[in-house]
Amino acid sequence: MTHILITGASRGIGAAIADALTTDATKVVALSSADGDLADPHAPARLWAESLDRLDGRIDVLINNAGVFETNPIDKSDADWLAGWNRTLEVNLTASAQLCRLAVRHWQQGARGGRIVNIASRAAYRGDSPAHWHYAASKAGMVAMTKTIARAYARENILAFAICPGFTMTGMAEEYLESRGGDKLLADIPLGRVAMPEEIAEMARWCALAAPPSMTGAVLDANGASYVR
Ligand SMILES: NC(=O)c1ccc[n+]([C@@H]2O[C@H](COP(=O)([O-])OP(=O)(O)OC[C@H]3O[C@@H](n4cnc5c(N)ncnc54)[C@H](OP(=O)(O)O)[C@@H]3O)[C@@H](O)[C@H]2O)c1
Repeated sequence: MTHILITGASRGIGAAIADALTTDATKVVALSSADGDLADPHAPARLWAESLDRLDGRIDVLINNAGVFETNPIDKSDADWLAGWNRTLEVNLTASAQLCRLAVRHWQQGARGGRIVNIASRAAYRGDSPAHWHYAASKAGMVAMTKTIARAYARENILAFAICPGFTMTGMAEEYLESRGGDKLLADIPLGRVAMPEEIAEMARWCALAAPPSMTGAVLDANGASYVR
């Protein structure tokens, strides 16, 4: 039985990942903001401990999916801009880092290894809109952290993967498409459509359960060739 912890699993990509990973051979804890606010620095440790309890003291896979995509225009007041920056970094990067650290230490103690799947973004490589410096930076940080974990702990059978979706048809993407004039944005995607949450979920499922260990440290794109690197 593989024990899996997923953050941000109430809707969108996270809900699709939870669906894809729920089988007779897995036990899944699917968290949302109702379980705790990841902007609170005390939340990750509490959520980790509670999830460990619910999973009989063993977590094999951590999927950091929870994230926010909030606008932070540069003409805000200094204090408001900094608060917006900090909140996105806290939810998207710091909380994920705290959970990764707890996972690595858990796996080191049991000497059995485990897998981390971090849901980053195309923005990590391509950047984002003028109101989303913080979002792009948080996702680039997530990619760098994933590579660091992969290199540091591969010998201990601790594997780490990052997935970089482009626009994906969730509530978040719908708002974004609307705010950017929909069709124009789609014209920039050679595939002619945004990704579906089930596509990202399939990638996460594979990384979590099946991807060969030699693939650790890989960053997988899913953006309809709108950004190839
Ligand atoms: N959709 C896209 O176009 C796209 C593209 C690239 C990357 N991504 C990344 O993919 C991931 C999922 O995106 P999505 O579009 O599926 O998002 P979504 O539909 O907005 O769902 C976000 C999830 O994260 C949880 N969450 C948000 N803020 C939280 C907080 N402060 N504390 C705890 N949980 C929180 C939400 O819980 P509640 O339901 O309780 O609020 C929800 O389960 C994110 O990391 C996002 O950056 C998305």
